[in-house]
Amino acid sequence: MSNSFKTFLKHTAKDFHNQSVNPPIVRASTIVFKSMQDIRKMQNKAKKNPTGGHFDYGRQGTSTTHILQQILSKLEESYFTFLTPTGFGSVFLAIFSVTRPGDEIIVSDPVYSPTRLLSQDFLKEFYIKTKFYDPHDLKTLEKSITKKTKLIFVENPGSNTFDFQDLGKIISIAKKHKILTAIDNTWGTPYFLKPIKLGFDMSIVSATKYYSGHSDVMGGSLAVNKKVFAKVKAAERITGLRLGPDDAYLITRGLRTLDVRLDRHRENAKKVSEFLSKFKNIKLLYPYKKDSYNFRMWKKYYSGASGLMGIKIKAKSEKSVVKFVNNLKLFGHGYSWGGFESLALHQNVREQGNRKYLKLAKNEHIVRLHIGLEDPSDLIADIKQSLKHLK
Ligand SMILES: Cc1ncc(COP(=O)(O)O)c(C=O)c1O
Repeated sequence: MSNSFKTFLKHTAKDFHNQSVNPPIVRASTIVFKSMQDIRKMQNKAKKNPTGGHFDYGRQGTSTTHILQQILSKLEESYFTFLTPTGFGSVFLAIFSVTRPGDEIIVSDPVYSPTRLLSQDFLKEFYIKTKFYDPHDLKTLEKSITKKTKLIFVENPGSNTFDFQDLGKIISIAKKHKILTAIDNTWGTPYFLKPIKLGFDMSIVSATKYYSGHSDVMGGSLAVNKKVFAKVKAAERITGLRLGPDDAYLITRGLRTLDVRLDRHRENAKKVSEFLSKFKNIKLLYPYKKDSYNFRMWKKYYSGASGLMGIKIKAKSEKSVVKFVNNLKLFGHGYSWGGFESLALHQNVREQGNRKYLKLAKNEHIVRLHIGLEDPSDLIADIKQSLKHLK
């Protein structure tokens, strides 16, 4: 009998030795062996089976990080999953692993602003050129390809504007030109979208968000296929970008309830969307309206939607939009998301890293809402009372 992934999440990572429901946290810098022969034996095992969890030094990991890697590789359906101390560490590792001076990369225009700053500014200092493409017009992607292009980096949906892209088409363009692909899949997680199965070479998730689910730990995961494994492994080793065991334990603990939480985030977000869709001055940037391109692209690839959404508000005064956000009582104002709690931010997208293809009129403003696990009728009542501030 093969159990579903929901069952796997609950039953995996037990401590089979001591029989506790959860595995112990194994902290280590030094790992000691009985003899030099034993050290060599372990090193040979690690060489023969580099994904097998054979360690001779704490920086390589311990059984605690290895358990998390195994769970995530099963969830991602990947060859292996690397763990980094932050989600952004995984973004960096993905790009750094496969590019060298003289190369070019192509990045979706609405990426998370630190990813944009990394690619457009920092990589330039290493003679790596970045071009941006319009997520709604993949001709701009294909036109940017040259012999030097090594990587197409996608974030789906786009940050703040929540643009859903034709992922299958991006993969086929990349394959035609023999270019590697990476996707930031933090919004959907592999619970709703399996990028490696779809054909991406690398799949990034900020574990800080839904994997942990409790806003108390940071981490990142980079799932890979066999083709890029050795390159990423080499870069991971040289940069020392690895997650510590305490954080790995907390993320494993969060993962037990990933399915339950994401299903509830989705239900709550749907209810809030239904309420917000009644207002003429508000456009939902969420896969809700069935006749939109965004909805079709979401439906084509995802099995569900998480709790993060944008709303585009038409208002003469930006101050009134800020007032609407400030007067929400159940929504905190903070940057990270994916925890159990609701959040609201007025996003100054125009100032975030000079997007090339941003379509936003002067009187349009973007508010990002993270719909948490509170009672949705309380969240709706809260939004309702604060909407009166919009002008
Ligand atoms: C889409 C996306 N990718 C990556 C990151 C970076 O993750 P972390 O904060 O864990 O470094 C974030 C953080 O907000 C994000 O929203």
